[in-house]
Amino acid sequence: MTTQDELRPTLTTEAGAPVADNQNTETAGVGGPALIQDQLLFEKLAHFNRERIPERVVHARGAAAYGTFTVTADLSQYTRAAFLSEVGKQTEVFLRFSTVAGNLGSADAVRDPRGFAVKFYTEEGNYDLVGNNTPVFFIKDAIKFPDFIHTQKRDPYTGSQEADNVWDFWGLSPEATHQVTWLFGDRGIPASYRHMNGYGSHTFQWQNEAGEHFWVKYHFKTDQGIRNLTQGEADKLAGEDPDSHQRDLRESIERGEYPTWTVQVQVMPAADAAGYRFNPFDLTKVWPHADYPLIEVGRLELNRNPENVFAEVEQSIFSPAHFVPGIGPSPDKMLQGRLFAYADAHRYRVGINADHLPVNRPHATEARTNSRDGHLYDGRHGRQKNYEPNSFGGPVQTGRPLWAATAVDGPTGNHATPAHAEDDDFVQAGNLYRLYSEDEKQRLIANLAGFIAKVSADREDIVERAVDNFRRADADYGQRLEAAVRELRKQ
Ligand code: HEM
Repeated sequence: MTTQDELRPTLTTEAGAPVADNQNTETAGVGGPALIQDQLLFEKLAHFNRERIPERVVHARGAAAYGTFTVTADLSQYTRAAFLSEVGKQTEVFLRFSTVAGNLGSADAVRDPRGFAVKFYTEEGNYDLVGNNTPVFFIKDAIKFPDFIHTQKRDPYTGSQEADNVWDFWGLSPEATHQVTWLFGDRGIPASYRHMNGYGSHTFQWQNEAGEHFWVKYHFKTDQGIRNLTQGEADKLAGEDPDSHQRDLRESIERGEYPTWTVQVQVMPAADAAGYRFNPFDLTKVWPHADYPLIEVGRLELNRNPENVFAEVEQSIFSPAHFVPGIGPSPDKMLQGRLFAYADAHRYRVGINADHLPVNRPHATEARTNSRDGHLYDGRHGRQKNYEPNSFGGPVQTGRPLWAATAVDGPTGNHATPAHAEDDDFVQAGNLYRLYSEDEKQRLIANLAGFIAKVSADREDIVERAVDNFRRADADYGQRLEAAVRELRKQ
């Protein structure tokens, strides 16, 4: 044994007993079968079999980093959230980026929205803003989400993503036309996680100290500049370097090049909502900046890599229902569905005590609940009483709701999202198309046509419905797309 070896710690079993041999299984005789008394062998094989937890049902593939949010402008006239209360105030954050449809081991450089999930570890509890790099979404009602995702994921028979399913669903869901026009444009494949914007996407409620409330949309503008990949560049990169985005984020932070985003909000006074030209709670619509300008609120910097990907990234949990005082939900039906879906996913995927893990628990305050026990409970509450009300000095409620109550009216029912004066499913898709440069229009048409052309030859009806939605957004858009698809399907 060298001196070096003598300094090294002894390898042990899970129970801490020294391991004599980590190379050779114990056998009955030389060259004989293994013995049950080799508990090290069984312990290793059994633990290995249980290394995986279920991957996220969407957004399985991702990368994350810690950082700091700094307030740069005082917006306390709109919200009483403590972490936004004064210029210069800093809050620790954890941001996980992701793709949506791919499995855990899929490539980063693909055409897909990117998740942009931020956890603010505030002194009033963790605030999670679980957004995307797109300001809108494909659908406007949570009840359609499982069906939509089924079309993006693997077909039950072929086990692959199928153009038939994707275009069938989109063709039958005209509200997707805006987001699809966005996704197949240049920003549909970001060059890296650092070179894209993030959006809260939904409308949220802010409430100020006086009790007034506002409707708010969040924008995170990359300070690195927007950079994208063309379909050809992405196809090559995805094959050669499937971990491209994950590596780029980690290495830039290792080099001390900390990516930053300027955080802005659009604020709508509550009284405007009913008469606004678009339904402000429809996730397939933006609020044009001319109507509600961007107001800067802060700067977000990422500056620390996780030490352990499984512990901190795979087991991290973000929930749109994690609000803090002064911030709350809007009646957006997508958001309302998400308020249930995430915590439910966490209980299944990570377990009932997922909130106790270091990455997930509050960092700037502590959780004080009477929930107890369950799998892998660490006994943190000791002998404290586990019920309320109690007369033993346990934690008590504040009596003040986190956000403002809003009025409702009318009968219950499976109502469609109400349409405001200028609402239809095509107007903003057409506006976006007309905003693109001629070059970008050509790439958009080529990207869409390349995918639509893959629809089965005997399902022209799917192609027709899909193209018709783009025609309704803009006649030129539809006509050029139809010609490009026909050309490709002739080949
Ligand atoms: C009703 C519609 C939606 C439902 C039911 C839904 C459901 C889910 C579920 C179950 C997960 C996995 C959570 C986990 O296992 O930790 C997830 C992840 C995610 N979703 Fe959604 N989602 C919806 C819409 C959206 C929208 C509109 C956005 C963005 C604006 C979004 C952004 C994300 C992100 C970023 C993640 C990954 C979070 C992380 O990094 O852990 N989702 N979603």
